Amino acid sequence: MKLFSLGARLALCASMVREGAALADVGTDHAYLPVWLAKQGAVRKAVASDVRPGPLERAKENIEKFGVGDLVEARLSDGLDAVRPEEADDVVLAGMGGELITEIIGRAAWLKDAEKRLILQPMTREEDLRRSLVRQGFSVLREQAVLEGRRVYTVMLCVYGRPAQPRNDLFPYIGLLSGDSAAGRAYLRREKKRLGNRAQGLRAEGDEAGAAKLLGFCGEIEALLQTEEK
Ligand SMILES: C[S@@+](CC[C@H](N)C(=O)[O-])C[C@H]1O[C@@H](n2cnc3c(N)ncnc32)[C@H](O)[C@@H]1O
Repeated sequence: MKLFSLGARLALCASMVREGAALADVGTDHAYLPVWLAKQGAVRKAVASDVRPGPLERAKENIEKFGVGDLVEARLSDGLDAVRPEEADDVVLAGMGGELITEIIGRAAWLKDAEKRLILQPMTREEDLRRSLVRQGFSVLREQAVLEGRRVYTVMLCVYGRPAQPRNDLFPYIGLLSGDSAAGRAYLRREKKRLGNRAQGLRAEGDEAGAAKLLGFCGEIEALLQTEEK
């Protein structure tokens, strides 16, 4: 069976999984990510978990179709509730909302271990997710944006503890992203627009100080874009 290619978003997530890791792909749906990594011989073993039986059936079908049943196990689990710490060095949470990702991380205390890695690809609420990661003591080691179709996504590689996150006011909005790639610039432009809209809303409510603060961040993002575009 010829192996499929991963889309750019999942390929970026896959590139952050450590060679030879035990992987948990939470909210796996079709299990493309663990199946693809197992076929490359890039993971030692993997749990492909999902909270819903329908997606889990799709995962099982693909695991069987691509002959990786000895390496990848499909498992019904709400978040990491049915995954044991020793089963995962690297945990991928991709294609889910930032709030859900935050909740799943918050429920799995064993992730607070400097040996574990989290690879996070939120579809929404990145700002809240970054704030919550910092609050819970996680650091973003690496972050990269990726374009797929008409959308831009961010993928964060996180670890508990080290190194201390820079206390940068822009961090909740753009994380570690910069304008050094087309995807990074697209993300920065999107965030600037979102903050601009929020500033307008605050101004309409009479919160001039709040609006000015957000417009200040918009200005800083614009300056980053200008620097990279020179
Ligand atoms: C949009 S799919 C993402 C699939 C894949 N991870 C990707 O990025 O392409 C989201 C999946 O998360 C699953 N999901 C939602 N809430 C979950 C939870 N609490 N625990 C585990 N899986 C969950 C859904 O059933 C769905 O299959």
